[in-house]
Amino acid sequence: MKVPEGGETIVMLGGAATLALAVAYGQAAKMAGNTFYLLVQLQEGETPFYLDELAACVDNLQIYTPQEDSQDALMWLQAQTDLSAIHRVITHGDAVVVKHWRQWIVHALKPMVSNDVIWTASVYGPMQCMMKGVCAQCLQWQVDPKTGERTKAVYSCSWQDQPMEAVDWDNLDDRLAQNHTQEILSSLWLNFVLEH
Ligand code: FES
Repeated sequence: MKVPEGGETIVMLGGAATLALAVAYGQAAKMAGNTFYLLVQLQEGETPFYLDELAACVDNLQIYTPQEDSQDALMWLQAQTDLSAIHRVITHGDAVVVKHWRQWIVHALKPMVSNDVIWTASVYGPMQCMMKGVCAQCLQWQVDPKTGERTKAVYSCSWQDQPMEAVDWDNLDDRLAQNHTQEILSSLWLNFVLEH
């Protein structure tokens, strides 16, 4: 994930797993002289971690529990910075987390920021070998943002953070749905093992 050379205002939007990434990214971003804000939406049963480490490497962070409404995120962000000064927005996490923040971006943030903002999104599709082109399990379509037409397929194991407007989100949903049966079986097996 690209860290700007300095002077940029970066906003990262994510879920629980983002807390670990944000420590490493935030340290690099701050060392380079950027401003870094973090917003995290937790799911039921998740607890925040690395809070002391994060305090040292973010300009501010906001963590929403499942009981809180992340629609307040816009007001929180406005209290931190001039929204027109934001250079880069990164959404990180699994498909559920990224979908949550994409909707928030479309309905709340995008109308308030500059047209020059660089939008980046995690694309964690099904993967197998993680060898950048060996098994092709991770192929993911990209689209032309203007026409919506598919332009090329990319290996998402080698390109996990893609331009948000170029991702074919319907294709990602379809690919992830292919794993659904296996996920149900794994979950049933895990519950069985834990109960016996
Ligand atoms: S996961 Fe095998 S090529 Fe990407």
